[in-house]
Amino acid sequence: EQINKGNYEHYMQKEIHEQPESLTTTMRGRLIRGGSCKSKSVLLGGLKDHLKTIRRSRRIIFIGCGTSYNAALAARPILEELSGIPVTMEIASDLLDRQGPIYREDTVVFVSQSGETADTLQALDYALENGALCVGITNTVGSAIARKTHCGIHINAGCEIGVASTKAYTSQIVVMAMLALAIGDDTISSQARREAIIDGLFDLPSKVKEVLKLNKEMKDLAQLLIAEQSLLVFGRGYNYATALEGALKVKEVALMHSEGILAGEMKHGPLALVDETLPIVVVATRDACFSKQQSVIQQLHARKGRLIVMCTKGDAASVSVGGSCRIIEVPQVEDCLQPVINIVPLQLLAYHLTVLRGYNVDQPRNLAKSVTTQ
Ligand code: G6P
Repeated sequence: EQINKGNYEHYMQKEIHEQPESLTTTMRGRLIRGGSCKSKSVLLGGLKDHLKTIRRSRRIIFIGCGTSYNAALAARPILEELSGIPVTMEIASDLLDRQGPIYREDTVVFVSQSGETADTLQALDYALENGALCVGITNTVGSAIARKTHCGIHINAGCEIGVASTKAYTSQIVVMAMLALAIGDDTISSQARREAIIDGLFDLPSKVKEVLKLNKEMKDLAQLLIAEQSLLVFGRGYNYATALEGALKVKEVALMHSEGILAGEMKHGPLALVDETLPIVVVATRDACFSKQQSVIQQLHARKGRLIVMCTKGDAASVSVGGSCRIIEVPQVEDCLQPVINIVPLQLLAYHLTVLRGYNVDQPRNLAKSVTTQ
């Protein structure tokens, strides 16, 4: 049942819409609410013998390619916050090109939907040679990365067929949020924060269901953008990853140039591109970066930018100051889980743009689901 399209026309469409279920499966049996002294916690069986070593590591390095790298980037802030350990990011090929230093005291987390990506696998061999503790986060039981790592977490998102990763991305973020919760589990000062995140995880599938109702709105937006040459996506903080991943979706399936931009870098180049014609999506949902994003929006308005602003429900007026813009309103969840919600409208936008432009949704030109050669 998992590998036919059911009532959907394309696998990508099906996989976008089944995210409430895939996220539920990812969390099944892993979140504990209730009980006596420790009321809320996470249970990650695949890590139980290694958590102490991970807590003692002097650095956590995330390694991945494509969407898997973006998922790790989305989870990085909460990992840093709850673990107190420096977290660095590596695109697998870049680490290999540089032969960057990896030490025995490092924990290296390999993120890969397929578990077979050649660059990620080679980076794993390299980290093993250097004596680091290697953790795998994959969607494929028995894959090379699952087998070769010392320990790991399966994302259990179910089989993903569309070349463009969608449900694996959101499940990867959730798994890494749970990893952060598990690492920080012995820290009393962050207990309330961890419990709020666990509550947020329980509610997440229903919030994803809610955001999927934007389908028609995103189809209308796709219609509006159908003939564009380019689309920019601005994000920061938790949603820098949303900008990169949203742009990657548009680029890989809709074959439209698209660039994810760290909003904090706007004045160092991207601002020169802004005019009345270039469409720009700005992710400005509520979190600690919100007022900075409001000021970015005002500056883009001042340059007559053509804006599409993604904001928290009820915030349309607060983000429209300084000019008019199209609004995408999304439900609010715990800040570190917001990237799971925010990517959904952009997945839908990429999907509809692709169909309207007449391109192959599930098998984009020149791309493969699993890149097993270098
Ligand atoms: C290919 C796929 C992407 C995927 C990337 C990494 O480029 O088209 O969707 O994100 O490989 O794959 P992995 O299986 O390692 O997550």
